Amino acid sequence: MDQQHLLANTWITTVEHHAELSSTQDRARTAAAQLPLDVSLLVVADQQTQGRGRGSNRWWTGAGSLAFSLLFDPAQFGLPRGPRPEISLVVGLAVIEVVEPLLPERIVGLHWPNDVYVGSRKLAGILIDMLPDGRLIAGVGLNSNNTLADAPAELREQVTTLLDLTDRTHEPTELLIHFAQALAAGLSLLAKSPVELGRQFDLRCLQHGHSLTLRNGDQAITGICTGIATDGALLLDTDTGRRVCYSGTLR
Ligand code: BTN
Repeated sequence: MDQQHLLANTWITTVEHHAELSSTQDRARTAAAQLPLDVSLLVVADQQTQGRGRGSNRWWTGAGSLAFSLLFDPAQFGLPRGPRPEISLVVGLAVIEVVEPLLPERIVGLHWPNDVYVGSRKLAGILIDMLPDGRLIAGVGLNSNNTLADAPAELREQVTTLLDLTDRTHEPTELLIHFAQALAAGLSLLAKSPVELGRQFDLRCLQHGHSLTLRNGDQAITGICTGIATDGALLLDTDTGRRVCYSGTLR
């Protein structure tokens, strides 16, 4: 990774690159305690021993994949500090901006609430943590230069990688620079024109027409997905009418 090139071409102020970490998300959280609000930090790891997914899920960090967490203050982009359910979708749109030009023949889009898919396979997972002071940690696991040949058997039918899709490797520094630039543009647009940005969620949603079951604790809602609202809510048409869902786990 070319840290100087990355710092010179993005708004990111500090970078850490580790050969191995338990989780970039956890490292960014620990480092945040020593950093003032106006310092952003990118933590990248070649390998994670305890990569975290949403809930109790684990993230497979295959050799060559891009695992990173970006700590920043949303106020830097004109956003209030506080929970915003759309943030994971904005991060997803930024990932799409990076990978779509590399995959011209493919259908790339969002799976609510936090995944980027290519067709029916997951290319990237996103995890957003909010610190008590309102700073955000956007964690992204992008299957870039890793290959399904090395993936655990249970993932091989479900995920995909840039290397497997394109038969070539992709320079991580360039992926990260493009991501940081796309994210800054997305967050600024969210602050200025949330409805304009929010329309993209639905346009990029790949779950239209899918029958989905959303679980929240011991409650479950099953319905046909009619898209994503401009405020980031998943829209489900159920037997008892339209449900507007802000959280939960899809099965
Ligand atoms: C999911 O699919 O549930 C989200 C996966 C998020 C994985 C990334 S990899 C970098 C960052 N560090 C972690 O421990 N998790 C996120």
